[in-house]
Amino acid sequence: MIKKTWYGPVLQLEMARLFEGKPVYTMACYYVDGLLIDTGPVHVSDEIEEAFKDLPVNIIVNTHHHEDHIGNNIVFQQKRGVEKILAHYKAVERIQRPETWIQRLRAYQHIAWGSPPPSKAQVIGETVETANYQFKVIHTPGHSDDHICLLEPKKGWLFSGDIFIREELKTLRSDENFHEILASLYKLYQYEFSTIFCGSGKIIMKDAKKALKQKIEYFERIKEEIFALYDKDKDIEEITRQVLGEESVLYGPTEGDFGKINLVKSVLTGSEC
Ligand SMILES: [Fe+2]
Repeated sequence: MIKKTWYGPVLQLEMARLFEGKPVYTMACYYVDGLLIDTGPVHVSDEIEEAFKDLPVNIIVNTHHHEDHIGNNIVFQQKRGVEKILAHYKAVERIQRPETWIQRLRAYQHIAWGSPPPSKAQVIGETVETANYQFKVIHTPGHSDDHICLLEPKKGWLFSGDIFIREELKTLRSDENFHEILASLYKLYQYEFSTIFCGSGKIIMKDAKKALKQKIEYFERIKEEIFALYDKDKDIEEITRQVLGEESVLYGPTEGDFGKINLVKSVLTGSEC
């Protein structure tokens, strides 16, 4: 499934594989002024040409190397002749040689998104220019170490990839770093913007900076609560229950990749920036 929705000059393309007619683990790419931000999972590759038939794509930026963000790079490269696929330097090798990391994908990731084919990528600079806009590249590690956001200061657009998701997130992926995410959120808060376009499909058009502040405050609050319970010698399961509630329903189906306990573990074991 590829669902297209225009928000002024920005086109959101929500992408997901359908099971019994229902989308599973939807993600979103964004298209503006010839720039495509992320290319979606390989499981929708058959729909790409039709979805983009009237849209010239000059530059692609991958916000990070995850399989749901780079899966159709090769379609644009081979069938549309897109030469410029840009990503953080740490992502380039992973995009070009996914065989070096796809063995760690869990069953749910294969089912929902699939293994991305290799594609050619280049190291992104400090800015990305299109005919009408200039995007600042901001390195925002935490979700992955190669994660970047794009900010168009004049329009107030922040394309946040997978770093924001939502204000009160209770789960983390097993490989995410809570403290790095928090540091990246503080970094983003230094900039001015009015709209957040999330890789999850959520778009915040009202009080976008307030939403980011809420997330920072929420993370600071739960971090304090987690450390306080740890100091009282509570175990990780008990801390998780008290601070975040019963484990997420996604914990089982994702083989523990999405879980509240991952967030607690990352707070307690990840390095503070
Ligand atoms: Fe991701």
